[in-house]
Amino acid sequence: MNSDKQSTIKPTRILFVCLGNICRSPAADGIMHHKVFEIGLKDVISIDSAGTYGGHSGELPDARMRQHALKRGYNLTHHSRKVTSSDFDRFDIIVAMDDYNFQDLFRLAPSVDAEKKIFRMTDFLTKISADHVPDPYYDGASGFERVLDILEDACEGLLQSIKQRKL
Ligand code: 4NP
Repeated sequence: MNSDKQSTIKPTRILFVCLGNICRSPAADGIMHHKVFEIGLKDVISIDSAGTYGGHSGELPDARMRQHALKRGYNLTHHSRKVTSSDFDRFDIIVAMDDYNFQDLFRLAPSVDAEKKIFRMTDFLTKISADHVPDPYYDGASGFERVLDILEDACEGLLQSIKQRKL
């Protein structure tokens, strides 16, 4: 582990949130884990994901998302869970995939300070232009590929923002 790298980055806990926590947010979670591990920051930046709807709790990510992610080198092993208000104490940055998730998180936030932790995933895009991460659940293969393209771009942008101490 490179201690120089660690000392310049503030410990940061990131929670990715979508609806079911079986497609978009566990993919974001897996991509970010991969990036953080590659650059030696896994002890400084911690990552988790959750869903606003608890109906898939305990499940592995959707088989289609696992398959598409694995082709890019991401092994998704997260088990779905529902987001709770205590997540606002446990995480520094809470990232919503779309406006529905964003509004749900706002309703759940226990304080004004907690509300300030909520961001949109698309705020961190640097190459692709999009205002939300589309729900791929009822889509075909191209929908899953599009989601992964957006998430890879946004995860890189989020990482750069953390490294540049913008967050
Ligand atoms: P996610 O996708 O929010 O990206 O995990 C969905 C997963 C499940 C459902 C909807 C979206 N569902 O309706 O069960």
